[in-house]
Amino acid sequence: MTLLAARGLVAGYGEADILHGVDLSVAAGQVVVVIGPNGAGKSTALKAVAGLVRPRQGSVRYDGQEIAGQPAESMVLRGLAYVPQERNVFPSLGVEENLLMGAFARPGAAREGLARAYALFPDLADKRRDAAGSLSGGQRQMLAVARALMLTPRLLMLDEPTAGLSPRFCTLIFAKVREIAASGIAVLMVEQNARPALAIADRGVVLAMGRNRAEDAGPALLANPEIGRLFLGGAAAAEGEG
Ligand SMILES: Nc1ncnc2c1ncn2[C@@H]1O[C@H](COP(=O)(O)OP(=O)(O)OP(=O)(O)O)[C@@H](O)[C@H]1O
Ligand SMILES: [Mg+2]
Repeated sequence: MTLLAARGLVAGYGEADILHGVDLSVAAGQVVVVIGPNGAGKSTALKAVAGLVRPRQGSVRYDGQEIAGQPAESMVLRGLAYVPQERNVFPSLGVEENLLMGAFARPGAAREGLARAYALFPDLADKRRDAAGSLSGGQRQMLAVARALMLTPRLLMLDEPTAGLSPRFCTLIFAKVREIAASGIAVLMVEQNARPALAIADRGVVLAMGRNRAEDAGPALLANPEIGRLFLGGAAAAEGEG
């Protein structure tokens, strides 16, 4: 069943509209990947759903209720978790302290949240006393994801969780994303590593210039020659070559 359905989102900064009527939807247990060129409005679309940018028009239905324009804090309490593209951990705080910040809105959930976080990301358990700033890039992204899971959200929104990571860490993060979805959470993920992301996606959405440009099953988008040429940096079959 569809958990989130955003329809006709118009949003922007100052006077200018960046989104000109964007649609996004995700069901429980599903991974939806949003791709598109730099500046397409991918991050703005996630922020509009997460309550960080106020939609000027359009609707955001979540679990059957209209939530467009609600403040970010109320989104968190409703079970929408959002991990921003940058500055998504507190570097001077410890790993466990970062995780506990994720449960600040419901301190009673902290203990169970920590147990789940360390079960999903055993590397973090080994480093629980270390400063987040001392972690590798991949471990930092895992920490950011783990923190977003502390309040057992129903929808997890990730903005480029593999940016700047080695292929090995990308594979690891995408495997964790599938594991998270398998637990029944709906995942809406923006990615620049479009090919490997679409390969693990149930649905892929292409945004360009603030509008939906294409949508299909992840592997189908990957195999679409026009999408390959315009948005994936080459022919669809390039992956297996060499
Ligand atoms: N806080 C802001 N104030 C003003 N303009 C902004 C702000 N954030 C983003 N923009 C502009 O909005 C447009 C869309 O930005 P957005 O970050 O949503 O794109 P994106 O698709 O996530 O791009 P990228 O792939 O580079 O992350 C860009 O032209 C950007 O310069
Ligand atoms: Mg972005």
